[in-house]
Amino acid sequence: MKFFIDTANLAQIKEAHEFGVLDGVTTNPSLMHKEGIKGHENILQHYKTICELVDGDISAEVVSTTFDEIIKEGKELAALHPNIVVKVPMIKDGVKAIKWFTDNGIRTNCTLIFSAGQAILAAKAGAAYVSPFIGRIDDSGWDGTELIGQLSHIFNVQGYHTQILAASIRSPLHIIKCAELGAHVVTSPLEPILGLLKHPLTDLGLAKFLADAKG
Ligand code: E4P
Repeated sequence: MKFFIDTANLAQIKEAHEFGVLDGVTTNPSLMHKEGIKGHENILQHYKTICELVDGDISAEVVSTTFDEIIKEGKELAALHPNIVVKVPMIKDGVKAIKWFTDNGIRTNCTLIFSAGQAILAAKAGAAYVSPFIGRIDDSGWDGTELIGQLSHIFNVQGYHTQILAASIRSPLHIIKCAELGAHVVTSPLEPILGLLKHPLTDLGLAKFLADAKG
C-alpha cells in the first residue's frame, strides 16, 4: 500500500518525505485555503513546488463543475508536471470529463466517493484513482472502512485497473484497516502517519534497554 500525504502544507510534506515513507501528495481546495494559497497563479505555483519536493503522484483538484470547464482546467493542471493527477468530483460532468482525460492520456483521481456505485462509474470511465472518504462516512454514522473492503472486492472481481485511494483519514487505525482491506493507497494527514510509530511497550522497552546500556 502506498502512502500519500493529504495536505498543502510544505513543511509537513517535507517532513513526511524525509521520514522516507512518502509516495505522493493529495490536495483539495479546502487544504489550499487552509494554507492561505489564493489566486490562480499562486495555486499553480504551489502545485509546481510540491512536484519539485516529492517524486510521486500529486493530485490537483479542479474547481469547475461543467464538462468544458473541467477539461480546460484539468488540461492546465496536467501541463504543470508529468506527476500531476487531475482530481475531478464525482458528478455527471466529472465522469464524462474523466473519460475524456483517460482517452487523452491525462490521469485522474475521482474525488468525493461515498458509495460503491460511484466508484464503479469512475472506474468504468478510466480513473487512475478513486478516493472514498472514509472519515466523513464515519462522521455520518456508518463504517467508512466497510466501503474500502467492498471496493477492494469489486475491483478485484471485475479486474479494474483503477486504484483505491482511501481518503479522509483520521487515525492510525484507519490506515491499518485500509491496509488490511486492500486499499492500494492511503492519503493521510501527517499525524495519523506518525501515530503508526507509537506503542507504549516500545517506549518502555527502549527505556529499559537504554538504562541497562548505561548500567
Ligand atoms: C483527499 O483527497 C480528500 O480531499 C481528503 O482526504 C478529505 O479529508 P477530510 O474529510 O478530512 O476533509
